[in-house]
Amino acid sequence: MSLSEILRRELAGAPLGAARDDFEAALERALRGPPNRDATAFEAALAAMPVLPRLEAELDSPVVRIGTAHDLDADARETLHGALLALHPWRKGPFELLGVPIDSEWRSDLKWARVAASITPLAGRRVLDVGCGNGYYAWRMLGAGAGFVLGVDPAARCIAQFQAFKRQQPAAAVVLLPLGSEDLPAQSRCFDTVFSMGVIYHRRDPIGHLRELHGQLRPGGELVLETLFIDAAAGAVLAPGERYAKMRNVWSIPSCNTLLGWLHEAGFRDARIAHTSITTADEQRRTAWMRFESLADFLDPRNPSLTVEGHPAPRRALAVATA
Ligand SMILES: C[S@@+](CC[C@H](N)C(=O)[O-])C[C@H]1O[C@@H](n2cnc3c(N)ncnc32)[C@H](O)[C@@H]1O
Repeated sequence: MSLSEILRRELAGAPLGAARDDFEAALERALRGPPNRDATAFEAALAAMPVLPRLEAELDSPVVRIGTAHDLDADARETLHGALLALHPWRKGPFELLGVPIDSEWRSDLKWARVAASITPLAGRRVLDVGCGNGYYAWRMLGAGAGFVLGVDPAARCIAQFQAFKRQQPAAAVVLLPLGSEDLPAQSRCFDTVFSMGVIYHRRDPIGHLRELHGQLRPGGELVLETLFIDAAAGAVLAPGERYAKMRNVWSIPSCNTLLGWLHEAGFRDARIAHTSITTADEQRRTAWMRFESLADFLDPRNPSLTVEGHPAPRRALAVATA
């Protein structure tokens, strides 16, 4: 079965109530768009992986683990290792699949620990994770008791990496679709919790992004928004220009009080900053599973409080607000 057919089938079984038709229309629009140039390689990598659909899953500890080394012989595990590496770069994790450990660029478990301590518990909730990457957090949300998790991310590689795991757990209540936040139905209003982590500074219209998120929440639902921020007064926004930490697509980085103002303007209430942190090389670094440049290459070697472009080095804030 092709990846498109798998996505259609998974969405058809998703508990989205009356909003499912609109999500199906959004998926069809996305599938009609230009295919990713690596799509054939992704399908080939997935096809090379063994599928053992009755494996044990461990979703409530730092390493998202499906199956164990005992479920595969050494040759088959070597083949799986190669097929997973063909989906390089692995930015979010850590994972372990059938005894193959995936040491991703980000220790996403550290962010998840900060987030999980700051939000309304997810038990039984219907969750949307916008810009979900390869689904690491979506699995952790399920591990925290969420009733259903929908992740959306426009990056085809992220969807392929997620499928490497989802194929082993076809009944798991988690679905990832290749959509951007701008592709979501305008007012689905069907989620109890919506996450947007590491996305808002990639959007040219940050308040528009917050309105898109507001439209996905039921009244009283919770937004969990995580972003880069600058240590500055209300109203301050860093527009980094050409690049920020070598990234081309960073448009605006707010101060915490600017972010709270944006949330208010987009219709949220009771917005608060739950946590702030400075990103270190313990959390973001080059590994065998992400061989490109990482945080250490993005900072000024003479003054690591600055990026190589001279902007303030990455700091991250977690905001929580009610729709
Ligand atoms: C910095 S990563 C953050 C991933 C993950 N949420 C996390 O916090 O680690 C940004 C993600 O946003 C995705 N993205 C980029 N543009 C987007 C858009 N318009 N809508 C939703 N996601 C987007 C990227 O593909 C990428 O996976």
